[in-house]
Amino acid sequence: MMTNGAERRIAFVTGAGSGLGRATATAFAARGYATVLADRDAASGRQVEAALRQAGGEALFVSCDVADDASVRAALAETEAAYGRLDAVFNAAGIDGEHGRMTADCTLENWNRVLSVDLTGMFHCLRHQIPLMLKSGGGSIVNCASVAGIRGAPSFAAYTAAKHGVVGLTRAAALEYARQDIRVNAICPGTIDTPMNQQLDPVLLKSLLDSSPAGRLGRPEEIAATVLWLCDAGAAFVSGQAIAVDGAWTAR
Ligand SMILES: NC(=O)c1ccc[n+]([C@@H]2O[C@H](COP(=O)([O-])OP(=O)(O)OC[C@H]3O[C@@H](n4cnc5c(N)ncnc54)[C@H](O)[C@@H]3O)[C@@H](O)[C@H]2O)c1
Repeated sequence: MMTNGAERRIAFVTGAGSGLGRATATAFAARGYATVLADRDAASGRQVEAALRQAGGEALFVSCDVADDASVRAALAETEAAYGRLDAVFNAAGIDGEHGRMTADCTLENWNRVLSVDLTGMFHCLRHQIPLMLKSGGGSIVNCASVAGIRGAPSFAAYTAAKHGVVGLTRAAALEYARQDIRVNAICPGTIDTPMNQQLDPVLLKSLLDSSPAGRLGRPEEIAATVLWLCDAGAAFVSGQAIAVDGAWTAR
């Protein structure tokens, strides 16, 4: 169940200041959701808030570091105070960490940082989002994994482990809350044209492009469209899935 039709639907997006989070928050707002923009980068989060408001949307920036449980709790408390309910979530905040090193050379610092944001951060989000969603009668949560959540990504051991963990966490939560009308899915993007990849080593980026069956990077709006569908009534029987949006990359 998503809404009783009388109340405005509320979306909560982490990592909303950039890339996939930003594109999806923009799509939620355009669809009429009041959209909470959670990011640890206040400057970019506020910029998105201003852009969505200027376009006539209802948007609220909340400062939030997903690696910090208290910060996530406070962001959801702000959401409840402002809107009183929660219908749709896209948990997009994430980092890819260092690359170019094999597993034995992955530093503990990198391992801990990537796991704390990408996996433990996801757990913090779910543990504070689910209670608010239960109060408002259910909803849809989409967790951003990656194709590295269903395939190995050499030289990204921590990222691969964290994103596989996101898929597992998604499946467990989907099973637990299915009778309470909370659907939980993971989206697994291929290589998408966002600021995260604009910092990638050009040689690595070229090899990613060369291995793309579609011969191109994905666009953030293509991820947003899938998330919006997963939050619609049309996806009411879709839960516990890891859905690749990758131009056939994982079909190999
Ligand atoms: N771009 C891709 O090709 C791609 C592919 C697969 C998966 N992903 C995943 O998609 C998600 C978004 O990636 P993107 O490409 O949009 O990246 P991005 O770097 O453009 O945006 C990430 C956003 O998350 C925020 N963020 C980072 N750490 C945070 C934290 N601890 N707390 C709160 N906010 C934080 C950043 O401030 C930024 O606004 C990530 O989880 C990433 O792993 C991206």
